[in-house]
Amino acid sequence: MTSTQADIDRSYSVDNEFFALWLDENMHYTSAAYDDEGHEGRRGAAMPEMTLEEAQERKARVLYDFAEIDSTKTVLDIGCGWGSAIDCMVRFGVRQAHGITLSTEQIRYCEQRNLPREKVAYWLEDYAKFVPPQTLRNANGTPGKYDGLVSIEMIDHLCSPAQAREGLAVSIYREYFNRLAEWVEPGACFGFQAILRNRIPRARKDLDDLAFTADVIFPGGLNPRIEELIVAIAPKWECEKLIMRRKDYRATTAEWYRRFLLHEDTIRARWGNQVWEDYDRYLSTCVKAMDLHWSGDVQMKLRRI
Ligand SMILES: C[S@@+](CC[C@H](N)C(=O)[O-])C[C@H]1O[C@@H](n2cnc3c(N)ncnc32)[C@H](O)[C@@H]1O
Repeated sequence: MTSTQADIDRSYSVDNEFFALWLDENMHYTSAAYDDEGHEGRRGAAMPEMTLEEAQERKARVLYDFAEIDSTKTVLDIGCGWGSAIDCMVRFGVRQAHGITLSTEQIRYCEQRNLPREKVAYWLEDYAKFVPPQTLRNANGTPGKYDGLVSIEMIDHLCSPAQAREGLAVSIYREYFNRLAEWVEPGACFGFQAILRNRIPRARKDLDDLAFTADVIFPGGLNPRIEELIVAIAPKWECEKLIMRRKDYRATTAEWYRRFLLHEDTIRARWGNQVWEDYDRYLSTCVKAMDLHWSGDVQMKLRRI
C-alpha cells in the first residue's frame, strides 16, 4: 500500500540535524534546478555552475512561476517537507502559503522557521483527507479555494511496487490529480515536480540497490513513469510546460553525497553505523540511477481545465 505515516516517519525522521548535514541550508529534499529553463527558456551550459543553495532557490522559483503565484495569491504545498518551498514563496511574494506533510519531525521544523505567522500554516495531514480551511479565500474571494498549488516529489509516495504490479498506478495518480483539482478554480495553475523511473538495470546488484532504496529508505513508495503521469493528469489538468530534470537531479544527489561523505565520523558516532551504511548506499545509488537513466525527474506546469 501507499506510504503510511509510520513509513514517512521512517523516511524523514532520522532526525532533522542529520539531514541538515548534507542538504542545502534551506532543507529542500528534492531535485534542484541548475539552469535557466522555465525562466528565460534556454538550457544552460555544463552544470552545475551554481551552488546547491542557488539551484534549490531556482527550482522553487520555477515552480512558483509555474503556479502563477504573486503577492495577492494563496498557495498550498502538498508534501511540504521541512517547509523549504514555503520559505522561498514567502520571500518571492505571496499572500499566504500553506503546507501539508505526513512527517511529525517536518512539522516541528516548519513551525520553528522564522516566517510571519499570518502568512503561513502547516498541517500534519494526509492529502487524501485534507480539506482546505473554511476561512480560506482565493484572490477572487471564493471560499475554500487556493489560487495555485505546488507539490514537489510527493507523488512518489503514493503508489507502492505491489500496487503498480496490480496495474493500479494510473488510477492512484489520477485520484491525486483529481482531488487537488477540487482545491482550485478552473484556470488555476499547479507547479508539479516528480522523480521518475525509466530504464531497468540488468545487474543483480543494481536491482538490489534500487530495491533497497524503495524498501528501506522510502518504504511504500515507487517513482512514477512519465507516461503514467501524462495519462493521469487527464481529465482535470492540461500540461502547458514540461522540463526534464534528470541531469539536475544527478547534480543535486552528487552534491548531497559529497557533503554526506564529509561527515562520516559525526554520522557514525551520533546515528550509528547502520544509518551511515544505509545512506551511503542510498545516495550513491541515486547518483548512479540518474547517470544511467534508471531514474529521472520532471517539472510540469499544469493548468486546471
Ligand atoms: C521527498 S519529500 C519532499 C519534501 C518537499 N516537497 C521538498 O521539496 O523538500 C516528500 C514529502 O511528501 C510528504 N507526503 C508523502 N505522502 C503524503 C501524503 N499522503 N499526504 C501529505 N504529504 C505526504 C512527506 O511527508 C514529505 O514531506
